Amino acid sequence: MQIRPNIYNVGAGGNNAYLITGEKIALIDTVLKDFADDLITNIEQITPVTKIDYLICNHTEQNKSGAVGPLLEKNPDIEVIATVAGLRNLKEMLNRGFNEQVAKDDAILDLGNGLSLKFLITPNINWPDSMVTYEESTRTLFSCDLMSEGEEYLFPDFTSNALERIAKLDIDLICTGKGNKAAPVAETEQADSGVVILYSSRYGATEKMAKTIKEALENTETHLLCAGDNCDFSELIHNSSALIVGTQTENNGSDKLLLGKIAALTPLKMRHKPFFTFGSYGWSGEGPQIVHNLLKSYGMRPFSKPFLSIFTLSEEKRKELISHTQKFAEFIQC
Ligand SMILES: Cc1cc2nc3c(=O)[nH]c(=O)nc-3n(C[C@H](O)[C@H](O)[C@H](O)COP(=O)(O)O)c2cc1C
Repeated sequence: MQIRPNIYNVGAGGNNAYLITGEKIALIDTVLKDFADDLITNIEQITPVTKIDYLICNHTEQNKSGAVGPLLEKNPDIEVIATVAGLRNLKEMLNRGFNEQVAKDDAILDLGNGLSLKFLITPNINWPDSMVTYEESTRTLFSCDLMSEGEEYLFPDFTSNALERIAKLDIDLICTGKGNKAAPVAETEQADSGVVILYSSRYGATEKMAKTIKEALENTETHLLCAGDNCDFSELIHNSSALIVGTQTENNGSDKLLLGKIAALTPLKMRHKPFFTFGSYGWSGEGPQIVHNLLKSYGMRPFSKPFLSIFTLSEEKRKELISHTQKFAEFIQC
């Protein structure tokens, strides 16, 4: 599909790829490997693949780079242009070398016929290797995953930086890597759902601790979730300002249903979130420590070591737990 006099969308299988025909011919991004033949057919309606001079890889996720191998087999002379991280990824994906050029930030590649491509390095638009490409004469931005339909932006700071840079460009048209509808970044920012207390308890002792914690957080929005409940845990927890997790100890471990809920979380969405763990035990009490270690491995911010109570919560321990929770509430504010 022609979108500008010398610019064509030759994508396939739900991913866009763009052919730019100056004196030199450049292809921006590719598609999934399974759709390589469709991509090649689309290109060959405009020009033979053997005429392509440059393949610009804005990002090497497999839905954008899957057809790089098949293209290089048809035309081994193509010069592949990507960021340093992008070139490294491609070599590891293809297990082979190729003609390469490092895309430097703000560098311009002249294609002749008045067409020139400028590279803007925009790391961590979901992968570390990302960049965007801007064609100066037609003021067209090839944004790859940025502003692409259905994309999720897990690194808000990097996304904001990229958008700030792009905002300085004079843009007439944005050609995204997927679909044709731009997804405003603001839509991906979720409302804060307060503090989530997630617990499991076979005989009620850990549940009593969970309810005590909820009462201690009286002025804070809280959600008390039992691991056996049927609700969308992940969304609530991802959007929470802090997480408190309780488990009984069983057979030197923690509750498996609860561990499953934690394993279903996306670690990137949990980074820097404050947390502590708690639980009732009988003699050894490893359960809360296992959960603590797992949450810490997600990059979360531990408030304290696990808060343990032997069998039934005593009045003295109850007061201690209330005070512990109130200090946690202050910690969250920092
Ligand atoms: C099957 C089973 C295995 C247990 N294994 C341990 C254990 O390895 N270490 C320990 O400290 N307590 C163990 N306990 C004791 C529980 O942790 C203790 O009864 C605790 O108060 C239960 O909390 P809950 O009422 O929240 O389920 C075990 C209890 C059960 C039922």
